[in-house]
Amino acid sequence: MTEMPNLYLPEMATIIETVQETPTIKTFRLVLNNEQRMKDFHFEPGQVGQLSVFGTGEATFVINSPPTRKEYLQFSVMRAGEVTARLHSLNSGDQVGVRAPLGNWFPYEDMKGKDIVFIGGGIGMAPLRTLMLFMLDNRADYGNITLLYGARSPVDMAFQYELPEWLGREDLKTTLTIDNPAQGWEHRVGLIPNVLLEMEPSAKNSVAITCGPPIMIKFTLQALKKLGYKDEQIITTLEKRMKCGVGICGRCNIGTKYVCVDGPVFSYAQLKELPNEL
Ligand SMILES: Cc1cc2nc3c(=O)[nH]c(=O)nc-3n(C[C@H](O)[C@H](O)[C@H](O)COP(=O)(O)OP(=O)(O)OC[C@H]3O[C@@H](n4cnc5c(N)ncnc54)[C@H](O)[C@@H]3O)c2cc1C
Ligand code: FES
Repeated sequence: MTEMPNLYLPEMATIIETVQETPTIKTFRLVLNNEQRMKDFHFEPGQVGQLSVFGTGEATFVINSPPTRKEYLQFSVMRAGEVTARLHSLNSGDQVGVRAPLGNWFPYEDMKGKDIVFIGGGIGMAPLRTLMLFMLDNRADYGNITLLYGARSPVDMAFQYELPEWLGREDLKTTLTIDNPAQGWEHRVGLIPNVLLEMEPSAKNSVAITCGPPIMIKFTLQALKKLGYKDEQIITTLEKRMKCGVGICGRCNIGTKYVCVDGPVFSYAQLKELPNEL
């Protein structure tokens, strides 16, 4: 991991492109202004960054472009409150502050040779996108790769410009679902955990990686258990509010763990050992 010059000092970055993914999610592609830093910038799939809008504050987002594609760093931001609303008002050419990379990452080395099942809901597809594209760029290292991606309705589905490619790939089995029927929708209809149960991905030599709203995670975990996945075979990411991002302020703790340095990636086996504060 490349050392940051100063953990507390945001590096200046320029937004080079934006994509309005859904009515509430906007993607930002940005480059660090320091060309050498951008060239040397190293991160692992699953790591996050703090984006700051000066005068407003900072918020945490996963770097959702994979480390294997380095022309820019991509962050997808769902509008939630003050910082995210200000971020949504920015466009190409605007400046933001970046503190990254922060946190741990998906244990992709341990997953080599295994079948991988990605289960993403809404903006939860962001961290999965990083790891999935990273694995597709290192395809020979992994077994079957399955993606189940769900959103409330077709317009709430992010990364639409990539979906035809994902659906068309022979080395990726993609299933898309929405909660309720919608005109023109040609894919599955149904809640993610139910569709997952129908798909019945085998638990044998597999790892399931899931990310999405808490209610989706709760029922997805139950579905995975029904399908025979053991706690160690299930990986997820947590979203506790963060401030410093580097284990100093104590704002993001769950019991003795800090999400910012011990996470955001945890196995279900690890989560079970934490106090029930989620
Ligand atoms: C590890 C990690 C990765 C993340 N990755 C992404 C990402 O890729 N894309 C993305 O859009 N968001 C992501 N988030 C969530 C994002 O950081 C928050 O939504 C953001 O901080 C909101 O900032 P704000 O100032 O706009 O909202 P605020 O004005 O601070 O809050 C608005 C409302 O949302 C609630 N809220 C805000 N953040 C959270 C949270 N994390 N958990 C529960 N409630 C919250 C507040 O309580 C308040 O009610 C991530 C969070 C973490 C911790
Ligand atoms: S955000 Fe400060 S300790 Fe985690």
